[in-house]
Amino acid sequence: MSMECFVFFGILTFLLTTNRADALDCLLGESCVLPCSFQPGAEVIVHWIQLADSPAHSYYHDQDQLGHQNPRFSGRTSLFKNQISGGNASLLLSGVKVEDEGRYKCYTSTVDHNKETIIHLNAYAPVRKVELQQDGKRITCSSEGVYPKPAISWSTDPPSNQNLPENIKVQQIGQLYNILSYFTSVPDVEYNCTVSTGINKMAATLFKQTSLSGSSAETTMRCTSSKSTPTGIIWRFNHSQIIVSDGSVMEEWRQQVKSVSTSGDLTLKDLSTDHDGIYTCELRNAEGTYVTNTFLRIEHSQVSGLTGGGIAGIVVAVLAVLVAVLVVLLITRKKQTKETSSSQVI
Ligand SMILES: *[C@@H]1O[C@H](CO)[C@@H](O)[C@H](O)[C@H]1NC(C)=O
Ligand SMILES: *[C@@H]1O[C@H](CO)[C@@H](O)[C@H](O)[C@H]1NC(C)=O
Ligand SMILES: *[C@@H]1O[C@H](CO)[C@@H](O)[C@H](O)[C@H]1NC(C)=O
Repeated sequence: MSMECFVFFGILTFLLTTNRADALDCLLGESCVLPCSFQPGAEVIVHWIQLADSPAHSYYHDQDQLGHQNPRFSGRTSLFKNQISGGNASLLLSGVKVEDEGRYKCYTSTVDHNKETIIHLNAYAPVRKVELQQDGKRITCSSEGVYPKPAISWSTDPPSNQNLPENIKVQQIGQLYNILSYFTSVPDVEYNCTVSTGINKMAATLFKQTSLSGSSAETTMRCTSSKSTPTGIIWRFNHSQIIVSDGSVMEEWRQQVKSVSTSGDLTLKDLSTDHDGIYTCELRNAEGTYVTNTFLRIEHSQVSGLTGGGIAGIVVAVLAVLVAVLVVLLITRKKQTKETSSSQVI
């Protein structure tokens, strides 16, 4: 290996290791290990300090020394006792809070060496779910309980330039953020909304509405063909009524729901024109949420006993009317004859 190459890789390794040691992402509310190692030796001293000067945890004389600990860390810190002698001074911090964010110094010393390591803790709550709801022409995209402050963006297919930042509302509940944005939809456009933080992002997609004429006996509607396994599936009728939610069928729909496949396709049976309307499948997986709308119209093609009966009914009604008219005509005739004859008598 040439000298330049050696220096280059040396710098690269240095940059990578310092970067990695520098930043630590800790999930809010969970436990997190702040790594720190040292050359083993006698008379170990460990001080963990949140900079500038908030003592988090100390250890010397072979035991924890928490007399000067900042009360914010009370009951939330510990070292891996059985590993200290091996040079492990990592700090286990439980119930991570936003206030725990910042730089930490790990100071270690033994009879032979001392060392300082700096680590930067970032707390986060990832985007776990993006909701896409439709109310008339307005589509609302939202996500809750995210930290740090998330961003939201829309894209459409075909592309549109309606992307107004004033349509974004951010609300802070405690330390977590809720974000919401809405879009006025037009037909035949696919909408994609993405909520992101520095840690992760999730998208929700609303596909173009499709139409289907279904048979009243049995009709199957497709959900989204998703690459990864769905973690949740909800079917709705006319944007409001829930039909099936994560495998459980609502009471009012028991008669109609025949099955829901593992990929989310819904098969309905015993349908009437009351079931005409928009069926929405909302599928969630690791990447996001996919919303598919299908406009279903039930076909009335069946010539059954009911229709035959209808025709017979009409025939009977027409006959009845004819008979009634005849009877009325006959009666009036008789009356007129009677009246004529009486006048003749007078
Ligand atoms: C110290 O020990 C803990 C617990 O076994 C481990 O999770 C951590 O990675 C170790 N840290 C170092 C720097 O060796
Ligand atoms: C939605 O947008 C995001 C971000 O641009 C992208 O990663 C994702 O693939 C898109 N999803 C669909 C279904 O278009
Ligand atoms: C559902 O929506 C369709 C189309 O908007 C409408 O014609 C139908 O009356 C609605 N059905 C119910 C039960 O609300």
